[in-house]
Amino acid sequence: MRRHNILIVDDEAPNLRLLKRVLGDEHEVIAVSSGAEGLEVLKTSDVSLIISDQRMPGLTGVQLLEQSLSIRPSAIKILLTGYTDVQALIDAINSGKVYKYIPKPWDADELRLEVKRALEMFELKENNEKLLFDLQAALSQLEQLSMGTIRALADALDAKCDYTSGHSLRVSRFAVGIGRMMELPIDVLKDVELAGILHDIGKIGVPESILWKPDRLSPEEQKIMAQHPVKSAQIIGELKGLGRAREYVKHHHEFMDGSGYPDGLVGEDIPLGSRMILVSDAYDAMTTDRPYRKAIGHERAIAELKKHSGKQFDPAIVAALIKLVGEEGVPVSDEIPESVLGLSIDLIDPAQSGTQYRAEAERRARLTAAS
Ligand SMILES: [Fe+2]
Repeated sequence: MRRHNILIVDDEAPNLRLLKRVLGDEHEVIAVSSGAEGLEVLKTSDVSLIISDQRMPGLTGVQLLEQSLSIRPSAIKILLTGYTDVQALIDAINSGKVYKYIPKPWDADELRLEVKRALEMFELKENNEKLLFDLQAALSQLEQLSMGTIRALADALDAKCDYTSGHSLRVSRFAVGIGRMMELPIDVLKDVELAGILHDIGKIGVPESILWKPDRLSPEEQKIMAQHPVKSAQIIGELKGLGRAREYVKHHHEFMDGSGYPDGLVGEDIPLGSRMILVSDAYDAMTTDRPYRKAIGHERAIAELKKHSGKQFDPAIVAALIKLVGEEGVPVSDEIPESVLGLSIDLIDPAQSGTQYRAEAERRARLTAAS
């Protein structure tokens, strides 16, 4: 066992001397003659064990040990007393403020043994606290790691489908902003943000010839494109603890009137998070330029959302978005709503957006000209 700091408090000097002699070989003993002095010592010294007399002028032993809790909560406390107020002692021990009481006169060997046990208990508690701390650190590292995986997936999609660069992150933030307006609980906001980031991840499995096609998609191509929510959900299915986000993602193209896909769900059968992502997705798509078309602007985007409210979109969610971004003229704020997952959006380079799409369009134009 290592050397510990032991605080002893007794108003009688001979008792202090005796205690110091018995315990001083193996440990650092700090001896004081009142509760008030004892509290001062606790503020500056890393004390593992407090041994106090009960009957002292000023603070009693029980009072001192009680007050020590707020300064050194993990220190073990022993009361030494010849005082016979048994009920007070029992109460002090039962309430956990005192580890043990040793009646006076005490035997030196017995006291040493009790001190040894008390310090073993202290080391055990200390060890447990350290383990708990390490466990928490490991868990938060794991959380960061999974955030890294999620971010990497979103980046992979951006790399393949670069004309929507940053779209998924913005959708996730608008969905979080909507959730805040609706005063939804934080765990729902977290899942909505995750789902927003990953909602289109299934497009990784859609061929470039369809993703980058400048013209209208054929019915066959539309069918392939329409599989992406299910593919997104399958990819998320591989990640643990994302059950609710997976449902949000799977149904992010369902419409209120049942005309959406993949399952044609109606109204409130569509998960709330999916309805939030749908509105955010539509708003972001309409207010950002794409290589094949210009943005229609904030005011017209809001008018479109209102027009299709109740058919495609959930009216309550459209109303929450309007509360977030404003209805007329320019948006009330250019700021993207803040992440609840602590993710930054600054990695998106707008200059890079659409380069792959444009290259593919030029390639197609050359092929057409040559044939
Ligand atoms: Fe989508």
